[in-house]
Amino acid sequence: MQRRIILTGSNGLLGQKIVNLLADRVNTQLIATGRGINRHPIREGYLYQNLDLNDEEGWATLFETFQPTELIHTAAITQVDQCEVDRDICDAINVKAVETLAKFCKKHNTRLIHISTDFVFDGENGPYKEIDPPNPLSYYGHSKLKAENEIIQSGVDYAILRTMLLYGVTPGMSRSNLVLWVRKSLMEGTPIKVVGDQFRCPTLAEDLARATVSAITSDAKGLFHVSGAEMMSIIDIAYTVADFWKLDRSLISETDSLSLNQKAKRPPKTGFVILKAQTELNYRPHSLEQGLALVNRQLKEGWG
Ligand SMILES: NC(=O)c1ccc[n+]([C@@H]2O[C@H](COP(=O)([O-])OP(=O)(O)OC[C@H]3O[C@@H](n4cnc5c(N)ncnc54)[C@H](OP(=O)(O)O)[C@@H]3O)[C@@H](O)[C@H]2O)c1
Repeated sequence: MQRRIILTGSNGLLGQKIVNLLADRVNTQLIATGRGINRHPIREGYLYQNLDLNDEEGWATLFETFQPTELIHTAAITQVDQCEVDRDICDAINVKAVETLAKFCKKHNTRLIHISTDFVFDGENGPYKEIDPPNPLSYYGHSKLKAENEIIQSGVDYAILRTMLLYGVTPGMSRSNLVLWVRKSLMEGTPIKVVGDQFRCPTLAEDLARATVSAITSDAKGLFHVSGAEMMSIIDIAYTVADFWKLDRSLISETDSLSLNQKAKRPPKTGFVILKAQTELNYRPHSLEQGLALVNRQLKEGWG
């Protein structure tokens, strides 16, 4: 089958990993979209288009001309604290743009593969299954849940992959992540405070990218929880990073959510039951140690 795939957020962490898998793939035409210039080092085997999510006319034209069989939607305002204060921007990108893309998908019979978050849950009863009731604590979590509901109600053929605490490295990243922040801080000798009362399953960006492509090839439908398999406190993730790169773990001191007083409230303990993804997407996540080894190799190649 010939696939014509549009990807959003192709300059982002997940987006770049998906381009790695889909560029030059047999029977697949890919149009990767992002804001501004293409920051991906691979420039062949796909087309890139600068297309803002707010540009409804631009999206209408792209759908008309390309007639995509699938849309992979990774772009979002992913800064949780920014969403708490810039609520209009968060609504426009994380909700309204998704509604618009779902409308075009419905019109052109395009499957929609959408990326969502563990922050749809309140973190009181993790690890969560796909059937557990959401209850977001933050504006970001609310926006991503609204987007899920827009997709479900649009009547489009969809798969929604929820993920959490993504880590990895790509050239020209627009923002850092926990693993890179801890490594860089400790390498520079900067003391850091890390929460001990929040628990997550850290997710290697390559693993999620593979699950996303698998959702396309296996014609998966519905909700999927896709994360690493190990539940850890955030401070334990930081200690693992310190030990992996043989950095000074005494620079890490423990704090808690209350003292950190971030703008957006975080769920204490999320974590996912990933059985459905393992069964239906053949999902086999790396351990954190294996993921750090891959990041280490990529950093040595000059990424980041
Ligand atoms: N990162 C996590 O820990 C995490 C956890 C749970 C769920 N998720 C979800 O996973 C998905 C991918 O996350 P990620 O870590 O890959 O995010 P990311 O690196 O922040 O990438 C998001 C991309 O969206 C683009 N974008 C933002 N506003 C846009 C606009 N108006 N028009 C076009 N593009 C726009 C950004 O462009 P610029 O590069 O120009 O800024 C960026 O490339 C998101 O849907 C996120 O909600 C992430």
